Amino acid sequence: MLMEVKGLTKHFGGVAAVKEISFQLKKSEIFALIGPNGAGKTTVFNLVTGMLEPDGGSMVFEGKSLFGLKPHQIAAAGITRTFQNLQLFGGMTVLENIMAGAHLKGKTGFLKALTTWPGSAAEEKKIRRDAFALLGDVGLTGLENLPASTLSFGRQRLLEIARALASEPRLVLLDEPAAGLNSAETKEMADYLKRLRKQGKSMVLVEHDMETVMEVADRIIVLNFGEVIAVGTPAEIQANPEVIKAYLGEDEQVA
Ligand SMILES: Nc1ncnc2c1ncn2[C@@H]1O[C@H](COP(=O)(O)OP(=O)(O)OP(=O)(O)O)[C@@H](O)[C@H]1O
Ligand SMILES: [Mg+2]
Repeated sequence: MLMEVKGLTKHFGGVAAVKEISFQLKKSEIFALIGPNGAGKTTVFNLVTGMLEPDGGSMVFEGKSLFGLKPHQIAAAGITRTFQNLQLFGGMTVLENIMAGAHLKGKTGFLKALTTWPGSAAEEKKIRRDAFALLGDVGLTGLENLPASTLSFGRQRLLEIARALASEPRLVLLDEPAAGLNSAETKEMADYLKRLRKQGKSMVLVEHDMETVMEVADRIIVLNFGEVIAVGTPAEIQANPEVIKAYLGEDEQVA
């Protein structure tokens, strides 16, 4: 088992945004985390990555407790993420964005990573070579010297994933990677996630695009008002009456 979360809880004021959530992640699977707006999906990511402190529960990754660790420590432990609202360094080039992600590995913080950059020549050379490989994987070869902000939205989303992968994490948390993408870009994104799984990456995918979720997920967990209402295969989730009920009245529909 890659990760075990037990009884994870977070309140904002009197409201439980995440309530006693438990799940287990296996290696090399795409585990989708779905649920209506406000269900608590992003909060789970913020808790797992140390951006928020849980009120209770445990999170164990590769046998090591994540409780109380700072975001950079969790990144160094092998978990990185992307954001619902893209968070690239717009003024930096495509290549620099990816290299910045690589510098997170084993460093004591993002700022430190940036200020101690470049490191040794050999280290730098490897980081550069790996960054180019990642660029190739996401189809951005030839665009490496452009400011990230000049890329199309779809390409920026792919770049953000490449940056998250640059530190060679064993678990990647993707917060709505297909949001704002057109159907061709969404298809490209889904194909990329499947290729990553083949390479052995483990992913948690938060996504509202149900077609993508049903296509790529190995297993799905459904949250509603901060609570787990179902866990299962895509087929099981699509047939689950409680899930269908949770989505009624929403724009999205379980496909
Ligand atoms: N920092 C915060 N302070 C106060 N309330 C918050 C904070 N972050 C989230 N919430 C609340 O917690 C609940 C869960 O929010 P969260 O962002 O986790 O939902 P989500 O499932 O990611 O929704 P969406 O699909 O819209 O992104 C919501 O009611 C939200 O308003
Ligand atoms: Mg969210």
